[in-house]
Amino acid sequence: MSSSPPTPQHWFELPHAPEPGTPLCTWQGLADGQPTLMELDTGGGPTQPFRLMLLRSGTQVKAFVNRCAHFGVPLAAKQAQLIFKPHTSITCNVHYARYRWADGVCEAGDCEGESLMAVPLEQDEAGQLRIGRPA
Ligand code: FES
Repeated sequence: MSSSPPTPQHWFELPHAPEPGTPLCTWQGLADGQPTLMELDTGGGPTQPFRLMLLRSGTQVKAFVNRCAHFGVPLAAKQAQLIFKPHTSITCNVHYARYRWADGVCEAGDCEGESLMAVPLEQDEAGQLRIGRPA
């Protein structure tokens, strides 16, 4: 009898999770109030990138895995397909679950009360963002 692997609860449990210290971009290069999608080639090749969303509010940047808590698919596959309210919420474009900008918690939809996977960030003096260490 086979059993399916446990559902990942944290970003670092996902296939091809990036190593702490992986460089991303500078926070100054991110649009303020708009989620920015990134795809990292961390060993999964072009068909299995590690998908991130970076959310900038002023000088603050948060990162979540671009993976809906409902079906585990991207909230949007392309930047132009993102549904969001600046500084407030991001909505999955599959079944329209809405997540809070501040903490990634689903506040309306089929996965209400679940969360996007938060990814820790580190930032140096020049504003370069990198993947942080798991808490
Ligand atoms: S896959 Fe995102 S709401 Fe269903």
